[in-house]
Amino acid sequence: MATTSAAIDRGRVLELTERERARFLARTPASQAAFERAVAVMPRGVPSSFQAADPRPTYLSHGEGSRVWDVDGNEYVDFHNGFGVMCVGHANPAVVRAVSERAARGSHFAAPTEGSVTVARELRRRFGLPQWRFTNSGTESTMDAVHLARAATGRDVILKIEGSYHGHHDSVMVSVRPPLEQLGPREEPSSVAFGGGHPPAVTELTKAIPFNDADLLERVLGDIGDRVAAVILEPAMMNITIVCPRPGYLERVRELTAAHGVVLVFDEVKTGCTIGPGGATERFGITPDVVCLAKATCGGYPGGAIGMTEELAAHIASGQVRQVGTFNGNPLVMAAAEATLLEVLTDDAYAALEARSERLTAGLDEVIERYGLPCHTIGLAAKGCVVFSPERLYEYRDYATKVDEELSTLAWLYHMNHGIFMTPGVDEQWTLSVAHDDADLQRYVDAFEAFARDVTS
Ligand SMILES: Cc1ncc(COP(=O)(O)O)c(C=O)c1O
Repeated sequence: MATTSAAIDRGRVLELTERERARFLARTPASQAAFERAVAVMPRGVPSSFQAADPRPTYLSHGEGSRVWDVDGNEYVDFHNGFGVMCVGHANPAVVRAVSERAARGSHFAAPTEGSVTVARELRRRFGLPQWRFTNSGTESTMDAVHLARAATGRDVILKIEGSYHGHHDSVMVSVRPPLEQLGPREEPSSVAFGGGHPPAVTELTKAIPFNDADLLERVLGDIGDRVAAVILEPAMMNITIVCPRPGYLERVRELTAAHGVVLVFDEVKTGCTIGPGGATERFGITPDVVCLAKATCGGYPGGAIGMTEELAAHIASGQVRQVGTFNGNPLVMAAAEATLLEVLTDDAYAALEARSERLTAGLDEVIERYGLPCHTIGLAAKGCVVFSPERLYEYRDYATKVDEELSTLAWLYHMNHGIFMTPGVDEQWTLSVAHDDADLQRYVDAFEAFARDVTS
């Protein structure tokens, strides 16, 4: 829902940001001490740069249900949920039981167990793709998808959406968050490496296109379609807040890729198993050639999966494509996935997540309206966010020019200081779990209202 905006006093935003930063630091001295020990042994004091945060990371001790506790003993309702993983809630009894039972019978063999067959069958049912393999992360899932597409087509070029993140392998670390001055023309964006260590020759093989523009995709495929192995996209973009597909866009992408013999890869690392039982594939009713999963699929354990057509699977079965890995289909991960998919994230659970999403966005919409804030909400079952732009976003260039970074940052500080554990940064979203109750949702709305009241007063 978009609103007309109140004028925001920038001096006030800066003053509140300073105040809330000081509060944040004052209530987390044990995190500060952990940080000081951590930077001596880990760059930026974190295991992955995505865990770094300004003014500093918060070190957690444990979680249960909808709650997490930091090392200072502060309790938070968790809406971060491990970057979209913990839809099952923390220490979910069904998952804990399944993993404990499995661990007691051996945790790793690098030989297939029955669990992998059960999970593959369930993923086939949900996503409608017949063949599945397992990976250990979203990065591995999209990497395997790229290998598969290149081998199956004998072509090298990958088309990706400008502003999308698909993990940290060379072929997709391109035009993820390109600075405005390096974008190039919208009709032919530059291929901009995301960080160092990616050979230009590989970066150049990946071309960016804007989301939600099927006419432009048609033109690009008309020009270079015979060199394109795959179009990889998130059906709803979830690394630049949330950007939904325009009606008809995914349908045309499906038609165009099929017409040019290009493999269509849906990166459902974020949307899969969160916005519906069969992710975006089911929700938007378009079946790609490959689906990439990870995050919520394995209920908090490090696993991923790729689903594919019989035709593509034949390239793996024949040995032409090496889809491999010591830990693929690890029994603990499979036990967690089986409990997650068959016992916890049932059809009823998705209906409840959808209802929670509607309650949360309705509460936030009411606050946005009352205070005239320049933002709007988006909710898709377990995933949702407040986008700090009065207008809807349709592609990365909207995100890069319309989202109010200062307000996003201030809202995050308010949430953290009001006991809401939330993803840092401008680009992320909340993840709801089966453990959130109405009081948890109200706490989010109350923290947001405190922010709205102070920033407009
Ligand atoms: C859409 C998308 N694809 C792929 C990945 C990579 O997943 P992982 O961090 O498990 O490697 C991410 C991670 O955030 C993602 O959001």
